[in-house]
Amino acid sequence: MSAARLPVFVDVDTGVDDAMALAYLFGSPDAEVIGIASTAGNVDVHQVCENNLGLLQLCGRSGVPVSKGAEAPLSAPLRTAEDTHGPQGLGYARLPAPTAELTAYDAAQAWVRAARAHPGELIAVATGPLTNLALAVRAEPALPRLVRRLVIMGGAFDYRGNTTPVAEWNVSVDPEAAAEVFAAFSDADELPIVLGLNLTENIMLTPELLGALADTAGSPSRPLSEHDDRGAASAAANPLIRVLEDAMRFYFEFHHDCGEGYLAHLHDPLAVAVALDPELVRCRPAPVDVELTGTLTRGMTIADWSGRWGRKPNALIGVDVDPTAFFDRFIARVGAFARQLPYS
Ligand code: BDR
Ligand code: CA
Repeated sequence: MSAARLPVFVDVDTGVDDAMALAYLFGSPDAEVIGIASTAGNVDVHQVCENNLGLLQLCGRSGVPVSKGAEAPLSAPLRTAEDTHGPQGLGYARLPAPTAELTAYDAAQAWVRAARAHPGELIAVATGPLTNLALAVRAEPALPRLVRRLVIMGGAFDYRGNTTPVAEWNVSVDPEAAAEVFAAFSDADELPIVLGLNLTENIMLTPELLGALADTAGSPSRPLSEHDDRGAASAAANPLIRVLEDAMRFYFEFHHDCGEGYLAHLHDPLAVAVALDPELVRCRPAPVDVELTGTLTRGMTIADWSGRWGRKPNALIGVDVDPTAFFDRFIARVGAFARQLPYS
């Protein structure tokens, strides 16, 4: 691995925006994806594995190890989000059948192996529920001190939830895991960067921006429109742009039906971009914890901005982002990556 490339380990519940995040990593010359943990969340863990392997196949990266995670959260029953991400997690898109297989070790072990193999260097990102990371920390309590940086997409700080009135999806699916991870990383040399909905909902992908991505990939196509037939297939010649357009159409339709407009929030791509370059966001340190017992508020993330708990900060919470700077980088990287893929 060249000195300039950062070893990146990513834990995903792929998922439309997780797939976009993986494409961003593949298109980042400063990143070397050394492993992918598949976590149950947007769809069940078997489907997440299929999606990760299929996306790697599509992107010509089938050498990246993919590990299967736990079937269910630490103690809660699994909930999935096919309404948001489609029946197989990638909207209307279909991925090639993968030829690569899963690792013989599970996702929690994959976390531990990655951290031990790159002590003090590993850039870690979690864009799904934190089940496997929590299991990894149980297996290797030193893990928070082995990773150089952890970025978590999860929570909602002083902001409404997207799953309950107060809880964000990734934390809401496995609140116990999130609480364990936040507690464990209070000992880390570098506090984890936590990007909640208050920040990630500023990252709004529109049909125009998706069109700019297709143009950069050298595969121009007619911008998606809310007036199109539902599920209309992408005519893009480029295989990655085709998959991303078919996936995003479903995600746009979901956001539209929720009254948010014909657009989509790219939560997870922001998280991977920040993992490679934390300067993309402004953060504030605070003690963070997760509500586990509230009858109305289970899964809520609470930041104690005013120090009333008397605890030291255990997270850097994203509070400001420049969406234009993010999208310029996203379109440049994913567009250039898609452009060099062979057409099929
Ligand atoms: C998070 O929930 C999932 O549906 C998305 O992939 C993202 O990671 C946003 O709340
Ligand atoms: Ca996700």
